[in-house]
Amino acid sequence: MATAVINLDDLDLFVSGDPYAAWAWLRENEPVYWNASATGGYWALTRYADVNAVYLDPVTFSSRNGTVLGGSYRSATDTASQQMLICSDPPAHRQLRQHVHKAFGPRMMERAGHQVRTYLNDALDRLSADGGGDFAVDIAPRLPAGLLTAMFDIGLDDALHLLRLTRIMIGYRDEEYAGDSGESMTLAGAQVEIFDFLATLLDQRRRDPGEDLISILLAARTNGRELSESQILYNALNVAVGGDETTPFTASAIVETLIRHPDEERRLHADPSLLGTAVEELFRWTSTNAYVCRTTTRDVTVRGVRIPAGETLTLWNASANRDEEQFPRADRLDLGRTPNHHVAFGVANHRCIGMGAARMEINLLMQELLGRGLRFELSGPIERLRSNFMLGVKHLPVALATRR
Ligand code: HEM
Repeated sequence: MATAVINLDDLDLFVSGDPYAAWAWLRENEPVYWNASATGGYWALTRYADVNAVYLDPVTFSSRNGTVLGGSYRSATDTASQQMLICSDPPAHRQLRQHVHKAFGPRMMERAGHQVRTYLNDALDRLSADGGGDFAVDIAPRLPAGLLTAMFDIGLDDALHLLRLTRIMIGYRDEEYAGDSGESMTLAGAQVEIFDFLATLLDQRRRDPGEDLISILLAARTNGRELSESQILYNALNVAVGGDETTPFTASAIVETLIRHPDEERRLHADPSLLGTAVEELFRWTSTNAYVCRTTTRDVTVRGVRIPAGETLTLWNASANRDEEQFPRADRLDLGRTPNHHVAFGVANHRCIGMGAARMEINLLMQELLGRGLRFELSGPIERLRSNFMLGVKHLPVALATRR
């Protein structure tokens, strides 16, 4: 493959092409790659060691300008900068994270696990009775719905409403979710609606506090000072988007992966004690959050390539997780793989705060699939999200497998 044909902004590559072949070429030939684009271009790091090293140095590689290309929050003057976890640097980041972290405590996770199990079982009962369905629509969203009803202390209808809005935020370039008003208006419109929803919740919690995320953030104090309203709203938004738009895409990608690797699927069904390593291998394999961004705060040299201060770097988790230098036989799915230090959740100070919740949700799903002996086969074409940020399956038509 010639360099000129690799364009990581080309969404067709992610919908109908083979981004893994492109990343393999880049790892081998241009691990520090300048991806020119209409909006100015950015550097792409595709090797595990480089991605890991950048994650570990938040002083040189800042999150202040946001972590998604072309999306919102791509400027230090954006009001989210230094207020929302994902686009903050230390020390503000550390203080915010301590507060948000309290909402992921064991009691909350127990409540969330109970909700996830309830919604998941109902949905799987229906799918089984029907002999199949669209896994990405009928089953996968039940995982974040369960988590967010518990974390925000809201009902199922509100959780599904929030899910529809966060899906537009992440899928604003996909015609299934975008409106007629153009990409930036679609994105802005969804954000406004989410903020309205969260602001209403904030008013209610001020009057009648509970044990939910917003009440926890309202009670938070840093050196005696309360969090500002915008800090509370931005971090509630961060948790809502992080929770809604990662785990369901991962769940669908996992089911697709198992369908495409029947030997490994059989191996797991025959030996459920592999579940622990299997879940981590499936996170490595699916790497739903394809990349995150950082901005250089000074001139740096990576593998002999000089990168000036103020430039955007993309860290391709999905590529790093297939790097042969880190993972022997990286292109082979091995549900017993150990060790498995994948970077699907990032590394260091910004490492996914919802990682435990995501593990809980995916474990519950896998336990149900194994417990019920459920295996699927494809019953129609898979449709992928038009995004290079989220490697998402948005439609996964499946039938209960009969021949394996
Ligand atoms: C399979 C599921 C998930 C994947 C693959 C994933 C991936 C990631 C990654 C790669 C980051 C690091 C971002 C960076 O370094 O800039 C991150 C951060 C974050 N994630 Fe997740 N995530 C998942 C599930 C969740 C869930 C369930 C929640 C919330 C309920 C969540 C909320 C967040 C938040 C708030 C951050 C920002 C943390 C910080 O900046 O300190 N994520 N996630």
